[in-house]
Amino acid sequence: MPAAADPARPLVIAIDGPAASGKSSTAKRVAAVLGIRHVDSGALYRAATAAMLRRAPDETTWSEAGVLDAVHGVTLEPVDGTFRPLLDGAPAEGELRGVAVTSRVSVAARMPGVRTWVNAMIRAAAASHPVVVDGRDMGSAVFPEAAVKVFLVADPHERARRRLVERQGGAPALAEVLAEVEALMRRDAADAAQTIEAPGAVRIDTTRLTPEEQVERIVALARGVAQG
Ligand code: CDP
Ligand code: CDP
Repeated sequence: MPAAADPARPLVIAIDGPAASGKSSTAKRVAAVLGIRHVDSGALYRAATAAMLRRAPDETTWSEAGVLDAVHGVTLEPVDGTFRPLLDGAPAEGELRGVAVTSRVSVAARMPGVRTWVNAMIRAAAASHPVVVDGRDMGSAVFPEAAVKVFLVADPHERARRRLVERQGGAPALAEVLAEVEALMRRDAADAAQTIEAPGAVRIDTTRLTPEEQVERIVALARGVAQG
């Protein structure tokens, strides 16, 4: 059951789950329906990784101090109801979502100092505004007091299919889906220690849901909390 909201704090709705379970697109739409902001913690881990990658392409040479120096070039810009990370003042969406960052992001995300930096950026964004935040540990580690905590899951084949449709459009071939399942499972394993379902989180399996249905369920949870 969702916890009762503390009226002294801006509302936090925390949506966690594994890669491609639907967190970011769902969080963005829930925020739009409720008229509040969306904050994507994964985008910040990606930005830290991209900033470091610009300096050193071989992730086996990366140190926590090196990544924490590189993140001085990362800022968050409010845009269209969400926050977009900028690298050296400029948007870099393609770079953040590209395979070079995606295949290395777990390395940076396992560094405790990098997690502290991301969490401080997220808490600052949520300090004075109600937000929907999404990631792996928003409801467990960063906002344990969140009024609504959701953990999204979906079948790996369905997650892989969605990622491919998003990336290239149209129905993907089976071989492509299987290769993407492997990539997702590798990243799930690399992120396992950081992916923590919060006690009391509402688990929603999105495998057979439409995006609209999962948005409606979370909006209903948020409205339930608001009504006490
Ligand atoms: O969208 P997708 O699930 O593919 O990834 P993301 O949410 O953009 O997150 C990118 C990476 O950031 C993940 O693979 C994790 O390594 C890391 N991450 C994390 O450690 N903790 C979070 N709260 C969010 C993301
Ligand atoms: O943030 P995360 O990696 O968990 O997922 P995402 O970036 O929101 O990507 C999920 C993709 O699956 C998006 O293209 C969604 O439109 C799509 N999708 C979904 O999220 N839920 C469904 N029930 C069906 C499709």
